[in-house]
Amino acid sequence: MKKNIKKILSVRALVLSVLLICGGAVRTAMAQEVNITPLPQNLAMDNEGKRFELPRKFTVAMYGVSDPKVWADMDRFVRKLSSATGKKGALERKEKGHFRLVQDKTLSAEGYVLAVREKEVEVRFATSAGCYYALQSFMKMLPPNVILGKEGEKKADYSVPCLTIQDEPRFAYRGFMLDVSRHFFTVEEVKQVLDIMSVYKMNRFHWHLTDDQGWRIEIKKYPKLTEVGSVSKDMLMNNETQTKYWNGKPYGPYFYTQDDVREIVQYAAERHIEVIPEVDMPGHMMAAMAAYPEFSCQPERTYEVWTQNLGLSVDILNVGNPKAVQFARDVVEELCQLFPGPDIHVGGDECPIMRWEKNPECDQLRKKLGLESFRGLQNWFIGELAQVAAVHGKGLFAWNESVTAQGADMQPLKDNNVKIMCWVGAQPAARKASSHGLDVVITPIGPYYINRKQWNSPDEPFAAGPGNDSLSVTYNYVPVPQDVAPDLTHRYIGVQATFWTEFVSTAGYLQYLMLPRLMAVAEAGWTQQEKKNFPDFVRRFNADIPLLELGGYNYGKHYRYKTDQPQPAQ
Ligand code: ACM
Repeated sequence: MKKNIKKILSVRALVLSVLLICGGAVRTAMAQEVNITPLPQNLAMDNEGKRFELPRKFTVAMYGVSDPKVWADMDRFVRKLSSATGKKGALERKEKGHFRLVQDKTLSAEGYVLAVREKEVEVRFATSAGCYYALQSFMKMLPPNVILGKEGEKKADYSVPCLTIQDEPRFAYRGFMLDVSRHFFTVEEVKQVLDIMSVYKMNRFHWHLTDDQGWRIEIKKYPKLTEVGSVSKDMLMNNETQTKYWNGKPYGPYFYTQDDVREIVQYAAERHIEVIPEVDMPGHMMAAMAAYPEFSCQPERTYEVWTQNLGLSVDILNVGNPKAVQFARDVVEELCQLFPGPDIHVGGDECPIMRWEKNPECDQLRKKLGLESFRGLQNWFIGELAQVAAVHGKGLFAWNESVTAQGADMQPLKDNNVKIMCWVGAQPAARKASSHGLDVVITPIGPYYINRKQWNSPDEPFAAGPGNDSLSVTYNYVPVPQDVAPDLTHRYIGVQATFWTEFVSTAGYLQYLMLPRLMAVAEAGWTQQEKKNFPDFVRRFNADIPLLELGGYNYGKHYRYKTDQPQPAQ
């Protein structure tokens, strides 16, 4: 008898442990099926493996939702989901529906809770951004045509495993910068960038609109900026097939009209992306000098829009000339009217001051301001522009030379709360700026300059600058090192992937270099440092390859699984 009981117990134990092991395996498989990048903060799968199936007709219960932005977002969501799946959705002012929206002010600004149950998907959020990100996560669990807004197979499996996700971003600023001066990208190509940013919950598009090689934004008050400044005599072209050739004819006119700008801004806003326009001043202004030489330090000269794609021009804006400063103010004024976001970027990088040192007007202004160094003029100038932006309730960004250049005067930056974008010597720059009470965004040359080569191989297409940064280098960069003083970490408002296009003249090559490293920076922006895991990220990138391919995106293939195993990290 005893023996029998023992036998029964051990058989039960065996069955139980097999069940547990299998259950664990099922749960792991389901967790793997859920493929969300950036990795959410908390994700709990339903133990029983149940699923929510999108019905032929579905409703979204909007009872109690008053924010018109949420209504507009949900309208787009329903239309997208309907057209992608062939099912029919509707918004209703009811309490119950297949999707139920609940505004919950206890959540953080971009945070959300997504509870997928068998019969209902509950979305909790504090703001329209949180609601949007919850639904991005939801769509990310469906076949990739859905989040891409492409019509799919009507008979495909449009079901999602039951689970609960509690999520919020680590940083408020999760950016991507695109240089459209060195090479121009069309409105449609920019929209493709915004689309892929939105899949990965990035929320700032820093648009580098002007440089020595081209002025790319229409400014009504100064029409020659685009009439003259958006065309260069020739241009060095490069694409992903490793060719490097001269265009052999004028490049341009290439620029965005103010209507184009409004279209991009609207498109971005629908994806919860703010556009930060950058007009780079007082250096990097050869295209502007070609149009208006009277604002240079040697007004008797003529200038050309640069055709060389590297190097630093010593010819810069004459900030000692009140008319040149007024020109810059007027440009910022138009930017403030065109761009609804809270920030304008005024450049401030790589600005040699030898022309100022030889210029009597600059010398006079320096003395009048009581400045020891001519370098002080640069931040005085930023302060002047900050005051124009402030009238519109906007703030300024500047590159970190405004803080780190020898002789930089911190006072105008502090007086105007200028935010600092840290790229060269990014970490010491961030420490200095934050210790003076300035907010910083981390975008180090190297790991976050995702225009650089992504593999150390002679087969790689030519890319800007020496050096290379593989996906693992970008992913594993730590934007806020542990030894940053705890009372300064709140000044680190975010991270940015930055893309210079000196050597990139096609959208395909841009995408090849940008992806998947953009996803790595997106994860640095969203996911807490301790939750990050490179092998798991590589797995999720591989699971997203059908999405990238369906979306028509080119991407670096270095970490694509060739067998069951990922390639070794470089
Ligand atoms: C920069 O890379 N010159 C900001």
